[in-house]
Amino acid sequence: MSSLATRLSERFAAVTGGVDPELRPATKPQFGHFQCNIAMRLAKQEGAKPRDIAQRIVDEIRVDDLCEPLEIAGPGFINIRLKNSVLAEEANRLATDPAHGVPQDPHARRTIVDYSSPNVAKQMHVGHLRSTIIGDCFTRVLRATGSTVKPQNHIGDWGTQFGQLVEQILEEGTDVSALDLAGAEALYKRASAHFKADEDFADRARRRVVALQAGDEQTLGIWHQLIDVSLAGFNATYERMNILLTDDDLAGESTYNQALPKVVEDLKAMGLAVEDDGALVVWVEGFDAPMIVQKRDGGYGYDATDLAALRHRVDDLGAERIIYVTDARQAQHFAMVFAVARRAGWLPDSVSAEHIGFGMVLGADGKPFKTRDGSAVTLSSLLDAAEEIAAPPIALAAIKYADLSNGLNKDYVFDAERMVQTTGDTGPYLQYAHARTCAVMREAEAKGLSLDTTVTVLDDPTEQALALQLSRFGEAVVEVATTLQPHKLCTYLYELAQHYSAFYQQCPILKSEGAVRDSRLGLCRAVRTVLATGLDMLGIEALERM
Ligand code: ARG
Repeated sequence: MSSLATRLSERFAAVTGGVDPELRPATKPQFGHFQCNIAMRLAKQEGAKPRDIAQRIVDEIRVDDLCEPLEIAGPGFINIRLKNSVLAEEANRLATDPAHGVPQDPHARRTIVDYSSPNVAKQMHVGHLRSTIIGDCFTRVLRATGSTVKPQNHIGDWGTQFGQLVEQILEEGTDVSALDLAGAEALYKRASAHFKADEDFADRARRRVVALQAGDEQTLGIWHQLIDVSLAGFNATYERMNILLTDDDLAGESTYNQALPKVVEDLKAMGLAVEDDGALVVWVEGFDAPMIVQKRDGGYGYDATDLAALRHRVDDLGAERIIYVTDARQAQHFAMVFAVARRAGWLPDSVSAEHIGFGMVLGADGKPFKTRDGSAVTLSSLLDAAEEIAAPPIALAAIKYADLSNGLNKDYVFDAERMVQTTGDTGPYLQYAHARTCAVMREAEAKGLSLDTTVTVLDDPTEQALALQLSRFGEAVVEVATTLQPHKLCTYLYELAQHYSAFYQQCPILKSEGAVRDSRLGLCRAVRTVLATGLDMLGIEALERM
């Protein structure tokens, strides 16, 4: 079912020759619920008086089932007030079926979301925190609007660093299976220091890379162990963070090893890849440097791997929309990958590819968040920091909401104290609003009242405003699905919580009686459902008590 605003827009379009009325929330309550300036726009085109056009629209449009009589104001604004009965009906439907308000995208596409994608033998850091939270939110929202979403966790499980790692392990006689991820990372640091300091070791490490590529059994065995140790660490984090990713979504860089030679061959055959100082490169218009698809030593890198991955996603996974979530610094990489893939015909125009870049997480000093020794802050230490001040589900809500509620490309300051507050624009505030609706319902139940009541009375302005806000849930969700800007849903939910709070202060619920009490309980129930559903789309747990 489409949202009220969509239904209204369609009615306008029916009498304006299909022109989008661009309904806006009314700027003041006395103007009704929505305002529309379509008459002004049409008047310009037609050279007529805006008020005349507005009058014509009002005469022709059939909306009396949804609205009070339309009003024309000022130079030709059309003011729209929904009927209380319609708002009540919306709230009642939402109370039992939150999906009711969320229009299903008729063009919902088969979508790949490439996110999280940490690197083997390294702990996840703040950048992966953002990718994981944002990508997970996209997956949830797109699924809710009818898309089939296949997440892809493009972990860094291949590359020359494995030569150093395996060589270091053999030299130390390390039992890899006994390591945890932190232990593996410590080993990584020893290996790269060793590589820099000892030419002999460096040679062995390079030969070890060749052995790995040639499929040497012992080398592959250790490589596998490193992956297992890392995955155990990643999965523990996903579980701790309530992230949807599973082993089914794993498609690390090594997945594409077999496909790389063909990628380069095909690019060569098409004349796209050319030799440049022993390497094979593709020049892309608008970029200062070419993309290197094969290095001088014959190795392939990050770019070629992403080309192979993209081809696989389109050809084998049937992707129609591909979304990559990484920090903004990779924007250029993806722009080039998309450009080359388009020219090679691997990314047809019918398939969209979007890189959603995000800003950095900053420390209290406004500088990129680093540990005292200057290394990247691990994701676990962030979670620990927040959990020092709040219970785990609240700490997690705090972190996720802080991450999602700002424009994605902005940097934000990791301020655990502020994020966990239950007042202000925070995740815990929304959890708290939800818990308050649950408390009202519990109290009603304890009094022996029926919880299965419906909204029938919307006399108080705060009740009306709340019902109107409820009816806009679907719009907010669809907006996130289209624009991939989760902060729109955060803002919607924050405003819903504020409307609920105003209503709660203004309108006694359990102290009122009869139909009014039933109706207010009905509103409460609808708010509870919408908050829980919306929070779930952000990956945040809706707690019943706090
Ligand atoms: N492993 C990379 C990193 O940690 C992110 C990979 C993103 N996905 C991709 N298809 N390149 O920065």
